[in-house]
Amino acid sequence: MATPTELPLRRRRADLADLSRILAIYRQSPGYFETIGAELPTEADVERELLAARADEKRRGELIFLAQEAVGLLDYKLDHPEDGAATLSLVLVVEAYRGLGIGQQAVRELEQNLAGRYRTLYAVVYGENPSAERFFTTLGYRFQRSGGPAVKWFSKPLPAGP
Ligand SMILES: CC(C)(COP(=O)(O)OP(=O)(O)OC[C@H]1O[C@@H](n2cnc3c(N)ncnc32)[C@H](O)[C@@H]1OP(=O)(O)O)[C@@H](O)C(=O)NCCC(=O)NCCS
Repeated sequence: MATPTELPLRRRRADLADLSRILAIYRQSPGYFETIGAELPTEADVERELLAARADEKRRGELIFLAQEAVGLLDYKLDHPEDGAATLSLVLVVEAYRGLGIGQQAVRELEQNLAGRYRTLYAVVYGENPSAERFFTTLGYRFQRSGGPAVKWFSKPLPAGP
């Protein structure tokens, strides 16, 4: 589905003060954790993740806001798995806000932000998640390889300039 108009989306890096916002986003997305066969993260899990992200200068955990409301997350890593590439390990939109174009616009904006500095954006899909595969295919990603029984890598070349 083409996004008819630009949504008032904003992204910013998450920090420890966002712990309860992130927890709320996870709690509004139970289906994703069922899909990947994981328990819903606890407060301690989120805190550990935020600390790990802060310690890794290549890692970017971001909140997606629609107007003033935190409606999703992006998690990606720069210069991974190789220099000049970035890897998106999570794009998550809370269930009540799916199908509005938020996910597509957030990923497109990320691509624009990275274009010129990174040649390739990889996307990793965990578990049996055909709707995520469709989501990335629609955005122009191509299946690259399986990285194990429950991990699929997709990729998209980024333009040389923004
Ligand atoms: C994948 C995900 C981020 C997409 O976000 P989104 O904001 O719903 O996506 P968009 O609205 O931009 O469009 C996604 C597609 O879903 C379709 N869609 C329509 N209604 C929908 C609904 N109620 N729920 C989900 N998708 C819907 C859209 O039409 C579009 O498909 P198309 O482009 O083939 O027509 C979201 O479904 C999600 O958070 N899933 C769980 C996490 C996940 O699997 N992430 C990907 C792997 S990391």
